[in-house]
Amino acid sequence: MTGDPSQPSPVAPDPLNVVLIGFMGCGKTTVGALLAQQLGFAFVDMDHLIVKKAGVSIPRIFQERGEAGFRALESEVLEELCQTTRRSVISTGGGVVTVPENLPRLRRLGYVIWFNLPEDVLFERISRNQDRPLLHTPDPRRTVSELLQKRLPLYSAAADLEADLTGLTPHEAAYGLAETVRVHFAGAPAEAEPPPLRP
Ligand code: S3P
Repeated sequence: MTGDPSQPSPVAPDPLNVVLIGFMGCGKTTVGALLAQQLGFAFVDMDHLIVKKAGVSIPRIFQERGEAGFRALESEVLEELCQTTRRSVISTGGGVVTVPENLPRLRRLGYVIWFNLPEDVLFERISRNQDRPLLHTPDPRRTVSELLQKRLPLYSAAADLEADLTGLTPHEAAYGLAETVRVHFAGAPAEAEPPPLRP
C-alpha cells in the first residue's frame, strides 16, 4: 500500500481495510458484502452510518441540510472510520471523492478499489430506485452523465486499483477481488488469510 511514512497514522500502520469507491449503482454494497464474507472481514456501509448519525434518511438529510450538509456528515464519518476501523470492507457513497480532503482519508483508511462500469449500465441500475436525491432532476440521464464526467478523474486519483466488473455477477466479482486483495495483503498476520478449502 502507498503511504507517507513521515505522516503519523492514528491506527495501526496497516489497517488492512478494503475501501470501495465508484459511482452510484456500481455495486459497492452488493459486491462489498460478498467480498467481506470471502475475506472474513467485517462489512461497513458508509451511507448506513451517515443515516444512523443523522437519525433521518439520506433524502431527508439533503432536504434539511443540502448537499453541503450531507458532505460534511459523510466526511466526519470517513474520518471516524480512519481512527477506528480495521479488517473491514468499506462501501463508500458515490460522491465521497468530491470533497478534496477525503482523498487522503480514503487512502489512509485502506486499499482503495474503484468499480468502474459503463455509464449505460450505471444508469440502468440507478433508475431502479428513487432514493438518490442528486438524481431528482428533470433529466436524470443527463445528470448522471455530467456527474460522472466530473467524478471520473477523482475516482481515478483516489484509487489504488481500478476494477472492471463488466459482465460479472456479484459473486464472480467478489471471488476475483478477494484473490486480488489476498495477494495485496500477503504477508499480513494469519487472521487475514482465507479459511482452508474443504474437499
Ligand atoms: C451519492 C451517492 C449515494 C449517497 C448519496 C449521494 C452521490 O450513495 O451517498 O445519495 O453523491 O453519488 P451510493 O453511491 O451508495 O448510491
